[in-house]
Amino acid sequence: MCGIIGYIGNKDVSEVLFHGLYSLEYRGYDSAGMAISDGAHLKTLKCVGRVSNLEDNYKNNEKFNGFFGIAHTRWATNGGASFENAHPHTVGKVTLVHNGIIENADSIKSSLINCGYHFYSETDSEVIAAFLDNELKHNNIFKSIQVLRKSLKGSYALGIIIDGDDCIYAIRKDSPLLVGVNQDEFFLASDISAFLRYTNKYFLLEETELVVLGKDDFKVYKDDIVVSKEFLTSNSESHSLDKLDYDHYMLKEIMEEPIVLKNLIDSYRSGENIDLYDLSRYDEIHIVACGSAMYAGLIGQSLIEEEAYIKVNVFPASEYRYKKKIFNSKSLVILVSQSGETADTIAAMREVKNMNIPTLGIINNPNSTMARECDKVILINAGIEVAVATTKAYINQVCVFALMAYTTSLSKGISNDVSLDDFDSIPVLLQNILDNSHVYKEVAKDLFEHDSCFFIGRGIDYAICMEGSLKLKEVSYIHSEAYQAGELKHGTISLIDDGIPVIAVISNSFLKDKTLANLNETLARGAYGIVVTTSELDDLKDFRKVLVPTVNRFCQSLLIVPTLQLISYYVSLYRGCDIDKPKNLAKSVTVE
Ligand code: G6P
Repeated sequence: MCGIIGYIGNKDVSEVLFHGLYSLEYRGYDSAGMAISDGAHLKTLKCVGRVSNLEDNYKNNEKFNGFFGIAHTRWATNGGASFENAHPHTVGKVTLVHNGIIENADSIKSSLINCGYHFYSETDSEVIAAFLDNELKHNNIFKSIQVLRKSLKGSYALGIIIDGDDCIYAIRKDSPLLVGVNQDEFFLASDISAFLRYTNKYFLLEETELVVLGKDDFKVYKDDIVVSKEFLTSNSESHSLDKLDYDHYMLKEIMEEPIVLKNLIDSYRSGENIDLYDLSRYDEIHIVACGSAMYAGLIGQSLIEEEAYIKVNVFPASEYRYKKKIFNSKSLVILVSQSGETADTIAAMREVKNMNIPTLGIINNPNSTMARECDKVILINAGIEVAVATTKAYINQVCVFALMAYTTSLSKGISNDVSLDDFDSIPVLLQNILDNSHVYKEVAKDLFEHDSCFFIGRGIDYAICMEGSLKLKEVSYIHSEAYQAGELKHGTISLIDDGIPVIAVISNSFLKDKTLANLNETLARGAYGIVVTTSELDDLKDFRKVLVPTVNRFCQSLLIVPTLQLISYYVSLYRGCDIDKPKNLAKSVTVE
């Protein structure tokens, strides 16, 4: 996590850096800072908290005049959210911003203390700055950065300024860095959203490369040799970063679900990547991901097993990377990630690739490490997501799994009672569901004053509950657990008390009565029941209900999860939480 932006050019440097920081704030918001230089003088400003605090501070200070600078928004790893730990870090001649974790920082720090260095923060980043400053006593800038690179263990994206010099230097390992290129100006960023307003021409910095951004040109070195880079053009539109008339990005992004879903279904119908959806040549699939992406994978597991008869296991990437993996000649590993930069998922992907097992990525960010490194990739094209809690990207991940299960089932001759036309109606139905905001507001009013809540369901409904519960936790800070409905009575039912809300998701007619019986067990102990179900199954009385139309079994979850997302949104709103930037979270988790 942490976001880095750097700029060199003729524009107002602070303006470009602030725009970049606001775009990158989803990567962390514990502190923010920037350093601006005119080549001879460098000024640094930093503060605890949000970018807006930094901007307020900036406005109250004397204006910085310079033509280049670096800036940072932090998600605390080494050391708390304090002024001392905020970036940029300056030691001697070196000022830098860092995203990542240096694993050998302690040993480097000890030897630097012996050389006379003092440290004022708890960060590994200050250690990097001191190391480089020490190297500069013996070597030129170029050589010193090469020595630094060889000495660091762990992950890093670094933007570096050296006193008396007029360039920005950058290297990276296991943390992303892109270079944006425009006439007479260059950008450095963790993510393209930080400079998309100014240019859509960019290249990716490779792990073996060092980039030097100067006033008139830039150079990329691989070892000691200058290499030429191929420019890429991003089709993402910078206006997707506007909040429009919505109060929050989360609401805006939920409301975009019908359109992104339609675009995805249309691209499938037009034959885009269609062969990747047919899994019939595999007999064992591992789905590996983190957070909501893993819960999209749980829906995928249910659909692929039930509809296409292929064995599927779902793993959190943080566990998978260290576990014993047993494959056969027909194994496939599917990696799911909105950002394509989640450290654990990337590590799992690389390990699987080393074992020569095919990898298929279901990715949103087309410029990401995973989009580049997975053997095959399905881009879900949900557009840039800004709210930390994912919504529209999750929906498109689930839709890819629905299309996979459908395609595979057809190609294996298992089912032909559902047609692609049945997928076509989903975006319109979803639009109608989203328009019923009063229903979700009513449920949210039932929930928002509680400290604890349960979601129960069976089969695919349990997978839906996992995402519903995570969303509620993320944005409202209410303790919430998702349980397989039948499992609750084996211990956790002891937590059910008077008035505690239990939300039952029931979309499966076969399991409806079973889940209902489990819900009743909680009601008998004082719980307050809420049922989320489909119109076909609605003969239930005396419950607060959320109803969605009954659709084909591949797509049912695409209509249910958005209702849970909206309930979470309104609960968060009523509790006065910071909906788009919940405490302690970051959207892109680039550390282990
Ligand atoms: C973080 C986010 C979650 C997200 C997870 C995986 O924890 O807060 O919303 O689901 O990372 O992210 P990815 O980019 O790999 O989908």
